[in-house]
Amino acid sequence: MNMLMNVDYDGMIPNNVGLNQDVRVRKALEKWHPGYLDWWQDMGPEGFQQSLVYLRTAVSVDPKGWAKFDYVRMPEYKWGILLAPQVEDRKVSFGAHRGEKAWQEVPGEYRAMLRRLIVIQGDTEPASVEQQRYLGKTAPSLYDLRNLFQVNVEEGRHLWAMVYLLQKYFGADGRDEAEALLQRRSGDPDTPRMLGAFNEKTPDWLSFFMFTYFTDRDGKMQLEALAQSGFDPLSRTCRFMLTEEAHHMFVGETGVTRVIERTCQAMKDAGIEDPNDIEAVRKLGVIDLPTVQKKANMHFSLSLDLFGNEISTNAANAFHAGLKGRFREERLKDDHQLESGTYPVLRLIDGKIENQDVPALSGLNMRLRDDYVADCNVGVGRWNKVIESFNIPFEIKLPHVAFHRHIGEFAAVKADVDGNVISDAEWEKRRIEFLPSDSDREFIEGLMQPQYELGKFASWIAPPKVGIDNKPGDFEYVKIA
Ligand SMILES: [Fe+2]
Ligand SMILES: [Fe+2]
Repeated sequence: MNMLMNVDYDGMIPNNVGLNQDVRVRKALEKWHPGYLDWWQDMGPEGFQQSLVYLRTAVSVDPKGWAKFDYVRMPEYKWGILLAPQVEDRKVSFGAHRGEKAWQEVPGEYRAMLRRLIVIQGDTEPASVEQQRYLGKTAPSLYDLRNLFQVNVEEGRHLWAMVYLLQKYFGADGRDEAEALLQRRSGDPDTPRMLGAFNEKTPDWLSFFMFTYFTDRDGKMQLEALAQSGFDPLSRTCRFMLTEEAHHMFVGETGVTRVIERTCQAMKDAGIEDPNDIEAVRKLGVIDLPTVQKKANMHFSLSLDLFGNEISTNAANAFHAGLKGRFREERLKDDHQLESGTYPVLRLIDGKIENQDVPALSGLNMRLRDDYVADCNVGVGRWNKVIESFNIPFEIKLPHVAFHRHIGEFAAVKADVDGNVISDAEWEKRRIEFLPSDSDREFIEGLMQPQYELGKFASWIAPPKVGIDNKPGDFEYVKIA
């Protein structure tokens, strides 16, 4: 048996990084732990800290059986530090150091850049827990309530994963950064989280599903790029985080699917054929498809902002240094250095949106974003299959990348969902055609009544096809205290 697969559960912090022998780092983490628990009590799921939740806990990094399911009170969840197994003789696979041995220690010249990458990733993890903090009060079922909490505790664990790297490899400034990660607050005007989408509200469950579909998927892309890192501990951490991340996107994709399915079924039962007859559909206690589309527009566009500027020196530097690679770097067939060559990037040129070939290194953010959009479209296709199966003439479409942007070149203009640049006045007039209006939000909020009865679901969402851990439909996923 591979020693690296063994997880030490004796100490306070389950881990496969030999914390027991690493007194300095263990002490630093034990010192950080109470502050983390205070943060969790203050900013974690409101009102359910004493409830027993049927959660999976990572107990190994073996792909065949890495988690075990059991009832846990969330503050007692085992937030462990788990790295994917070390790949023997691993090499830096891209950038200027391609072919050199992967680093087990921080390369001095890249220390600041690496720390920044880790802190930015780390900051998103607690942010989403803060954003989702009140959703338990309106959960459409115990199944969904449990999934929310599963996502929350795993984002907590992802914070641990990044804090471990900071404490282990960055000395005093790493400790300061670890502390600061507990101090910032999503949406706080004075101490906000670092990235825009993580300061937005997640006010209802459709938003939650869209968030886990679109924004957790940005997380996936960033983790995929960091999993390529020549800094081996970062690569190994991210590889294991991706295993957990898959469930978050599953929650998002199936959540939206179930909303759509319920809406289509209710329309069919009531004999409503026109998906745009919003009033009639809403009377059925389900969410009309045009509003689902507007929510998708909102969360997709906010998530695009997370990929940064179209032309980015930071991205070029991080790639050149061998710290952050491309999506599935190993499958790409080129020199993996990109000192020459170009990449086509959509830009704003003289007020028009046009493709421009830019140096491949400068266009890396957009390359990752293009891969992201392709990945997003897969699930959207599956949503449309559901609508199609009911013969309802409606198709969910992702808006153009210039639509509703706050970062990058398109932040300077207003564009409609098809990417036509429009005037500010026209945007103001048509805004509620593209994005949820106050009355859309009020309608959805009105639907958000908790349904905690065993095996029951709120009016606006279909039950899942299968239970978590193959549990039956009436399983008590959360024992509410
Ligand atoms: Fe995460
Ligand atoms: Fe996530």
